[in-house]
Amino acid sequence: MTRKIFATTALPYANGSFHIGHIMEYIQADIWVRFQRMQGNEVHFVCADDAHGAPIMLKAESEGITPEQLVTRIGSERKKYLDGFHIAFDNWHSTHSPENTELSQDIYRKLKAAGLIYSKPIEQFYDPVKNMFLADRYIKGECPKCGAKEQYGDACEVCGSVYAPTDLKNPYSTLSGATPVMKTSEHYFFKLSDKKCVDFIKQWLDKPGRLQPQVANKAKEWLEGKGDKALGDWDISRDAPYFGIPIPDAPGKYFYVWLDAPVGYLASFKNYCAKKGIDFEKFLADPKSEQIHFIGKDIIYFHTLFWPAMLHFAGKPYKDPDQINVHGFITVSGEKMSKSRGTGISPLRYLDVGMNPEWLRYYIAAKLNASVEDIDFNPEDFMARVNSDLVGKYINIASRCAGFLKKFDCKLTAGPAHASVENLQKHAGQIQTAYNDREFGHALRMIMSLADQVNQFVNDAKPWEIAKDPGQKQALHQICSQAINAFRLLTLYLKPVMPELARNVEGFLNINSLQWSDASTLLADGHRINEYKHLMTRVEEKQLDALFEIEKDTPKVTASTPHPATPAKSGVPPAPQPAAAGDGTIKIDDFTKIDLRIAKIANAEHVEGADKLLKLTLDVGELGTRQVFAGIKSAYDPATLVGKLTVVVANLAPRKMKFGMSEGMVLAASGEAPGIFLLSPDAGARPGMRVKYI
Ligand code: MSP
Ligand code: ZN
Repeated sequence: MTRKIFATTALPYANGSFHIGHIMEYIQADIWVRFQRMQGNEVHFVCADDAHGAPIMLKAESEGITPEQLVTRIGSERKKYLDGFHIAFDNWHSTHSPENTELSQDIYRKLKAAGLIYSKPIEQFYDPVKNMFLADRYIKGECPKCGAKEQYGDACEVCGSVYAPTDLKNPYSTLSGATPVMKTSEHYFFKLSDKKCVDFIKQWLDKPGRLQPQVANKAKEWLEGKGDKALGDWDISRDAPYFGIPIPDAPGKYFYVWLDAPVGYLASFKNYCAKKGIDFEKFLADPKSEQIHFIGKDIIYFHTLFWPAMLHFAGKPYKDPDQINVHGFITVSGEKMSKSRGTGISPLRYLDVGMNPEWLRYYIAAKLNASVEDIDFNPEDFMARVNSDLVGKYINIASRCAGFLKKFDCKLTAGPAHASVENLQKHAGQIQTAYNDREFGHALRMIMSLADQVNQFVNDAKPWEIAKDPGQKQALHQICSQAINAFRLLTLYLKPVMPELARNVEGFLNINSLQWSDASTLLADGHRINEYKHLMTRVEEKQLDALFEIEKDTPKVTASTPHPATPAKSGVPPAPQPAAAGDGTIKIDDFTKIDLRIAKIANAEHVEGADKLLKLTLDVGELGTRQVFAGIKSAYDPATLVGKLTVVVANLAPRKMKFGMSEGMVLAASGEAPGIFLLSPDAGARPGMRVKYI
């Protein structure tokens, strides 16, 4: 029985470009979708920009453009990322669209008719200069507990206490600086706490196969919360000015962005259906249809409580979501990504430096499973994995055997299938199950171990030796034909992950687009393939260096930490090149711009794969701790450094390096003769003290 699937990924906020986390989510979903299609299942795969909300409105304002212009600009850059990584959405739409307005308002009206919407007055901070109500993140003030300044409206970063924005002392609006005033306004609520909602969600969560167990448990915890953790009703309205969808019959009120955002899944699908002549309502009404969402672990709350309840109680034509697949976050060299610090990998840079998108698809797939665990992009591991698996095991089979087939006019011969080829065919079902269950890592491990068996067969059969013996022509033909059949089956199994490579292989093998059912057949006797052309190159060290290198044009500075313009792997401290005026002198201002501090080396360790670098964790007193990479491995044993004081340039912009973030530079002396000598202060200096002229 074929499946009928409507699949989505989370809708990215339209105020920024894609980062590697988005790309990872799309790669996961795209692999799954392509796999389902290879089974002959019908899949419609859509996404959209999440356009509404205060942050987008304010960002547009700060750029002097309208929110519509901002959203259009961001929307127009999506294609180059998606095409670049072979992510084949059927449709890309926007929540700022007629379909979304119509559907969001329709759902709202139906929820209201079901008695699940009410309104009540709410007292909230209001910015009298900007004339708008302030979400908590736009209010700062002094912590009511410890008095720390510049704390946000929800919690103190200094003493950790949690409070309401109205508890702040001397509160101010971060938008205008004005002192906010309390103001009342009518807000609309969705009655999530209604017994019928709670009962419905409970049974929705319990359906086997719908959610990963960790996700269902988390949602149940929220649902069954007691006391101040009890499930409250959901405030779904925001007051003008707000970039959003107007609430029907409520002038000046807009839907909170998280109400209309998931409706955007349906809006994009509806927009697509209209283009394709699919009956949107009929599709949803079909009991066979499945609605499946791929999301990250940070937005489980919205997708497992509000979203199913909204759809269920709005009733026809909407359907309850069938499955929510949650993934963890991707880190880079073990570090969380943060926009402000700019860590992570830029997906566009990855493409720009000429790296193959299918390497990343393969690497991410190899690390993914059906759990909510985070995965890490580690450059060394990436290179090793791609080069050994893809090039060394898989491509190698074709590149070693295809050439000999020229002797046979590129025609294959049938014959008894070799055990390794039979074994490949026998595993079709297991690999299928793994893909279907999103156990991609498991699927790829099986595929690579089957490739190992094929390579073993080729190694033992030694076609390159047999080829020298005219008497063994038939055997050579057999071996190479078997190897090509194995290569075809491996390609079939890898196709969801590497669609472009598979397309090239299909051209090389002169075959139709591979479907899963093709696993049971082999190429016919006399089938003619095309001449082998190189299919995939190895990842090179210099490409990774280029990927992690940033801002080529920043001036070079004398220090022991390698500048990003110097590939991190070489770790050679760049030559001194003082940034100075024409006569070689600098002004005192130039000198005082550099914030030099005493730092205590709290930890020092080797960096895996780095020849010259040590990773230092520095205690810089009031500035906190810093992580710095220093090219001093040749001169120091890390253990002897711990506890030492040295000098750090504390106000260098943090920069991403291949091995992680470097948040400063330590100073060391070196000359023509070998040796590197870390600077250290006289006894008495304390971590965090400024180093200045006296
Ligand atoms: N706009 C909301 C989603 C609305 S869905 C109706 C949103 N947008 S987002 O741009 O912040 O995130 C989009 C998706 O990217 C989410 O599923 C989120 O979990 C995912 N990721 C964001 N950072 C990520 C990583 N570092 N790693 C993997 N996925 C990450 O939330
Ligand atoms: Zn405090």
